[in-house]
Amino acid sequence: MPFDIRRLVADRLGENYELHEQYVNPTLVDVFRTIGFDRVYARGEGAYLWDDQGDQYLDMLGGFGVAAIGRNNPVVGAALRDVLDMDLPNMVQMDCALLSGLLAEALVQRTPPHLDAVYFCNSGTESVEASLKFARAATGRDRFVHFRGGWHGLTMGSLSVMGGDEFREGFGHLLPGDEVEPGDLEHVERLLAREDVAAVIVECVPGHSVKLPPDGFLARVQQLCRDHGTLLICDEVATGYGRTGTMFAFEHFGLEPDIIATSKALSGGYVPVAATICRRQVYQAVFSSMERAWVHSSSFGRNNLAMAAGLATLSVIDDAHMLRRSAEQGAKLRDGINSLAGHHEVLKEARGVGCLVAIELQRPTGTTRRLAWDAVHAMHQGLYPQMVVMPLLDRHRIITQVTGRADPIIRLMPPFVISDDDIRWFVDALDDVLARSHRVAAPLAGMGRSALKVTLSGRRRQRA
Ligand SMILES: Cc1ncc(COP(=O)(O)O)c(C=O)c1O
Repeated sequence: MPFDIRRLVADRLGENYELHEQYVNPTLVDVFRTIGFDRVYARGEGAYLWDDQGDQYLDMLGGFGVAAIGRNNPVVGAALRDVLDMDLPNMVQMDCALLSGLLAEALVQRTPPHLDAVYFCNSGTESVEASLKFARAATGRDRFVHFRGGWHGLTMGSLSVMGGDEFREGFGHLLPGDEVEPGDLEHVERLLAREDVAAVIVECVPGHSVKLPPDGFLARVQQLCRDHGTLLICDEVATGYGRTGTMFAFEHFGLEPDIIATSKALSGGYVPVAATICRRQVYQAVFSSMERAWVHSSSFGRNNLAMAAGLATLSVIDDAHMLRRSAEQGAKLRDGINSLAGHHEVLKEARGVGCLVAIELQRPTGTTRRLAWDAVHAMHQGLYPQMVVMPLLDRHRIITQVTGRADPIIRLMPPFVISDDDIRWFVDALDDVLARSHRVAAPLAGMGRSALKVTLSGRRRQRA
């Protein structure tokens, strides 16, 4: 029988978790089952998903930001189908293809004039890896400075500049560098004064905590970089292409980074794509002679589907005024959530820029609610926000995520196409869930047991 992907999906939809349990990551399956996220999604469009029962969900996470212009955008979909229909030669490698040249041109047209050279790869972490290698090549220095709480990816180089230790455990020695508390300018100055730092890497708006740096901090870090021959890398993987209401987050701070790492939203939510954009001088320090023309590259880096998705996505961002939409809908979303603060002691604030929003919870002062908070926190620091995220899905069919590594935070990265009605759907649902969140005793005990089981089964698997 000829291969038929439609038939395959129709026949086997619903086996998702069993397949992953057996062949992929059973520990992740345990997590999804424990928190009730083991749904089978069958279709996506705009800000919505539908499960195999036909129920509609509001996707407030947008695939960690990849679905910024909405799922299955028809313009991007048509571009991808056209590229396939045209039978274009793809990844010939021993040529310079048209689409990658066109996307590079379109990107440079959307960055400040000094960022005029583009390197294509396939994921956020690869874009960060390229940034780090390029900075080393351009400066002849080894070390990096990064900020606590930052997120830069999970390959070895990116992991070396991730703020916090929890993701590094078990993976051995990483690249040399130093972690700085956001806002600690003196520490940055001391480190850069040694003149052995290749680059400072920063998310101007940190995607996980969404805590903005103190006023003027980033501009002063940039000045210190200039003073000491260090490059400034802005990680725009999560924030690039409109997430914060401007094309790139560094624009809010008037920065002139030497390198930016980008990915996620450029994909239109369809195919992996990433672009590291930097000064030509930095680029040429890497590809400095004909012998070194391939010294950093990736087989799939400039593939036609990724390039077409990027070109079509940029056109949608322009034509549908996506930057303005991200700014406006994000502001309405934050206002709506913050309007609940007076009703729910546990809600500290919603903060953010554009459609990157963090909802931070806090320990209530009223006795009953405080006791409930303390009981939950005693079990696990991230549990209270999890107890908001779970009923948001279960009772209201809204997808969100707990991200606070140090703080109790729920992160929202909705597609910019989210409507005013969707915002109302979310705010009403949050109101309901927060009102119930202190009545935790029974579900808490159940969750505690399940969480323990997940930990133990993970350990058993490790030993097996
Ligand atoms: C700011 C930032 N940098 C880098 C990455 C890594 O991207 P990827 O998951 O595509 O490797 C992420 C992923 O969430 C991110 O948010």
